[in-house]
Amino acid sequence: MAIQCAIIGGSGYTGGELLRILSTHPGVEITCVTSRKYAGMPISALFPSLRGIVDINFEDYSPESLKERAQIAFTAVPHQAAMPVVRELLDAGLKVIDLSADFRLHDADVYENWYGEHSQKELLERAVYGLPEIYREKIKAAELVANPGCYPTSAILPLYPILKRGIVDSNGIIIDSKSGVSGAGRTSSSAFGYSEVNEGFKAYKVCEHRHTPEIEQELSMACGAPLTLNFTPHLVPMTRGILTTSYSKLKEDVDEQELIDILRDFYNESPFVRVLDQGLFPDCHNVRGSNFCDIGVRVCKRTNTLILISAIDNLVKGASGQAVQNMNIMEGLDETIGLQSPPLFP
Ligand SMILES: NC(=O)c1ccc[n+]([C@@H]2O[C@H](COP(=O)([O-])OP(=O)(O)OC[C@H]3O[C@@H](n4cnc5c(N)ncnc54)[C@H](OP(=O)(O)O)[C@@H]3O)[C@@H](O)[C@H]2O)c1
Repeated sequence: MAIQCAIIGGSGYTGGELLRILSTHPGVEITCVTSRKYAGMPISALFPSLRGIVDINFEDYSPESLKERAQIAFTAVPHQAAMPVVRELLDAGLKVIDLSADFRLHDADVYENWYGEHSQKELLERAVYGLPEIYREKIKAAELVANPGCYPTSAILPLYPILKRGIVDSNGIIIDSKSGVSGAGRTSSSAFGYSEVNEGFKAYKVCEHRHTPEIEQELSMACGAPLTLNFTPHLVPMTRGILTTSYSKLKEDVDEQELIDILRDFYNESPFVRVLDQGLFPDCHNVRGSNFCDIGVRVCKRTNTLILISAIDNLVKGASGQAVQNMNIMEGLDETIGLQSPPLFP
């Protein structure tokens, strides 16, 4: 029998991407898609690309009505708005995959420092951080998965195995990321509109981006001690994609091929991580529309620096694709189902 799924906040970019992916997933039936603004309207009115593919209407959110109609819900609403919804869905007996930041940080104080008040603190310990390549076993048994942020996914995947092996100094890591504009969501301000982004290129939230504590949390787990790092995000005039470059100081004399082998060994059972051959580096073009994370490795002997470069599609591996990967794992399916289509190139 098909897994019945609900999407809460289906009118946004990640909601639309969930619809696109789930509409061809052979094991899923989309039974409910909510929107406050567009309830009653056909989904194709807001996503004409899905005309003839998803023929249901948006509806109002009602956790009671979902009890009989869905086993699993994706919450694709802004942080803070997600936490009460997640609580109601869990109370209604659904499993939940939350795409917001509300359940990603284990420490409520850290959340409150960066995001504001947390009204569902007791749920934090029930949430599993949904990076399947690292937490696959925990995700299998989870009732609440906190789907990782887009920047954190791109930063953690390359660095985690390297820090776990103690190959680089955990102090002084620099992470420099560039994101396409869809990362800000469909309802973002005019600062993310065409005329203000096209042909521009800028850093933003320097030293204060909210994904910083999430990256620090996971990389601290990797090296077994708390670390802090510098993270600078940039906005680039493309629609989808994140390219992340990290710089860390090598503690050992290792060459590029050894590091590539360490990463390949760590991700041996992880079909969505592609560690590139020596001398090759990721390009957002090569992951667009797919759930892949491509990783390239460079050792600068002159400065004793390890440079790791990764590329993901922020809406797929950075959000909705990863959420479907998590659903597959929670439901005991092959984690690649529904996510096998190749990247869109060019
Ligand atoms: N965009 C990305 O690349 C990305 C990546 C990873 C994670 N995320 C996270 O995923 C979530 C959704 O992001 P998005 O990019 O899809 O945002 P979006 O395009 O702005 O869509 C937000 C959705 O949430 C609904 N919504 C807004 N305020 C709400 C509220 N107070 N209560 C209930 N529903 C509300 C909106 O629906 P109506 O107004 O129609 O009700 C809309 O469907 C966010 O938490 C975001 O941080 C986004």
